[in-house]
Amino acid sequence: MGRFRDGKIQTFSFGERPTLFSLNFHFLAITAASDGSILGGTASGIVAWKDGKQQILSEKNGLPCNYVSGLITDDAGNLWLFSQCGIIEIPQNQMRKWWEHPESKLDLRVFDTFDGFRSGLGHFNTSAKTPDGRLWFANGSVLQVVDPAHASQNIVPPLVKIHALVADHKEYPIDSGIKLPALTRDLEIDYAALSYAAPQKVLFRYMLEGRDSGFREAGTRREAFYNDLRPGHYRFHVIACNNDGVWNEVGASLGFSVLPAYYQTAWFRALWAAAFLGLLWAAYQERVRQLRSEEQKFREAVETMPALAFIARSDGQRTFVNSRWVEYTGLTEKQALGWGWQAAVHPNDLSRALTTWQESQASGKALEYEARILRSADGDYRWFQTRAVPVRDRRGKIVQWYGVINDIEDRKRVEQLQADLAHVNRVSTMGELTASLAHEIKQPIGAAVTNAEACARFLDRDLPDVREAREAALEMIKDAGRAAHIIDRVRSLYTKGTSQMDSVDVDELIGEMLLILHNEAHRHSVNVVTYVADGLPKVMADRVQLQQVLMNLMLNGIQAMEDTGGVLTIKAQLSQDIQVQFSVSDTGVGLPADKADHIFEAFFTTKPEGSGMGLAISRSIIESHGGRVWASANSGKGATFHFTLPLAPHIMPR
Ligand SMILES: Nc1ncnc2c1ncn2[C@@H]1O[C@H](COP(=O)(O)OP(=O)(O)O)[C@@H](O)[C@H]1O
Ligand SMILES: [Mg+2]
Repeated sequence: MGRFRDGKIQTFSFGERPTLFSLNFHFLAITAASDGSILGGTASGIVAWKDGKQQILSEKNGLPCNYVSGLITDDAGNLWLFSQCGIIEIPQNQMRKWWEHPESKLDLRVFDTFDGFRSGLGHFNTSAKTPDGRLWFANGSVLQVVDPAHASQNIVPPLVKIHALVADHKEYPIDSGIKLPALTRDLEIDYAALSYAAPQKVLFRYMLEGRDSGFREAGTRREAFYNDLRPGHYRFHVIACNNDGVWNEVGASLGFSVLPAYYQTAWFRALWAAAFLGLLWAAYQERVRQLRSEEQKFREAVETMPALAFIARSDGQRTFVNSRWVEYTGLTEKQALGWGWQAAVHPNDLSRALTTWQESQASGKALEYEARILRSADGDYRWFQTRAVPVRDRRGKIVQWYGVINDIEDRKRVEQLQADLAHVNRVSTMGELTASLAHEIKQPIGAAVTNAEACARFLDRDLPDVREAREAALEMIKDAGRAAHIIDRVRSLYTKGTSQMDSVDVDELIGEMLLILHNEAHRHSVNVVTYVADGLPKVMADRVQLQQVLMNLMLNGIQAMEDTGGVLTIKAQLSQDIQVQFSVSDTGVGLPADKADHIFEAFFTTKPEGSGMGLAISRSIIESHGGRVWASANSGKGATFHFTLPLAPHIMPR
């Protein structure tokens, strides 16, 4: 604090430490207190020093206003201030408390205009104490005196009374059992205090038990407001203090309740919960009943339909077979249930059937397989198709399979017939090629013979040339290998296997066909040109069947150019719909006029020795592969045949 200078007078200067207090002190008065502190009155409260400590007492400590223009200590040691808003007494014990806790709120007595105070004129004020203990304050226009010994204190606490309760604009009489309607929004409680000394200075605190956690300061306000009270019981409690700070701690209170809306009541909630549980239970029961009745309906329906039917557990064990099933297989229902049904399945088909069951249980997808089933009447096996769909519970778990078994013997026969026909076509086409093929095979055999003769000659010499003989023998092996290779290709077209889907390399396939057909083309002065697009993906097809189609089309093209010779162009490229598109184009006679629509029909032929089966078989093969086949006339000479095939799945371009 300040600077200390040696001399008769010590100076405490505050201007040199402006950062210690942000306030700009302007001293209006000064006094010494009985505890040895020096107190200065300023426009910003009291600045005090004691034992080298400096503190400020201001509105934050409860002063009604900061402007203190006079101060003096009375005989009892209490501090008196002359301020703009009255003469204020701070008891000694409060000053002590403040020195210890500079931020604390102090209990003061304020003597204001209601007590006869007048602020007067002028900023300065002087104060003095007469030997009788009275305190004098004077400023520009008034001289006032207070007698601390006789500044009688109002010790009568005020009486508090609650006089009105208004809820949503309706006033309720103040009595013990007030019940406010449900969903009351605005609540007002009016209260008042009886204090004769200075009723304007009565202060209130109130609290709503059940809502507030403690008393709220109301100041001199005489009404309390609440809104949106939840249903329940409440007690409003108000207390007051008089002008001298004497509290009536008992105050007044009023109990009331807010009624619940029907949906806020406990019984309603309980009812609701019960209803909800009931609903759940009912839904569950309904589902069980539904499943039972579904099963019942299914059983009734399946007993009347002309198919074999069954219900299986999720693992495939049968729990029901219909009477037709029993009739057909000759097994009793008892024998059929569980795993017993397997006895009716052809031994060669059983493992396939069981694998399908396992796969479907794992994937949860509808199941379908074909298997031969024993007919008890004659001991014959006929082809049946079994299909089953899963029945799931609420959580999606499979609980049952419903299945039907259909006789597909006739369809199987047609398929068989088609396969046979395709085979016959292949064989007969090969028949047409016999001359060519014979020639094709004769060539390497002829070469082998030549090489064998050469070999013999080399050995017959007086000095056998073993080295040359060995060369000739190696050539012979190659020739024989070529012949064997051609025979293998042809034989694969003759053998009648079951259809087998595979991913087939298009380039390779066309190469194989050229091997078989190149001599036939040569014989008729036909040049064969092939074009396979770069990086063409593989197709999904049965290799032998696909060879058959290509062979049919190529042979037709060669036959169309029989008399004239020409060019046979084979192309393979990716089509717009992302399939591989093949085209076989010739420069021959062209499609038969007016009959172009019929060329794919079975037995349609314009050739004296023709069977009319080639294109019909080709179409059935291509369509069973998921492709299309069509013919178009060339703009110049000849015709073009096109067909498409799906790509093998694992190399689908993105
Ligand atoms: N490349 C072609 N050019 C002209 N006509 C063709 C061609 N391919 C097939 N045809 C016509 O379609 C008919 C049916 O052919 P196809 O079913 O192979 O039986 P086939 O070859 O035994 O006559 C042929 O007889 C012919 O009239
Ligand atoms: Mg033909």
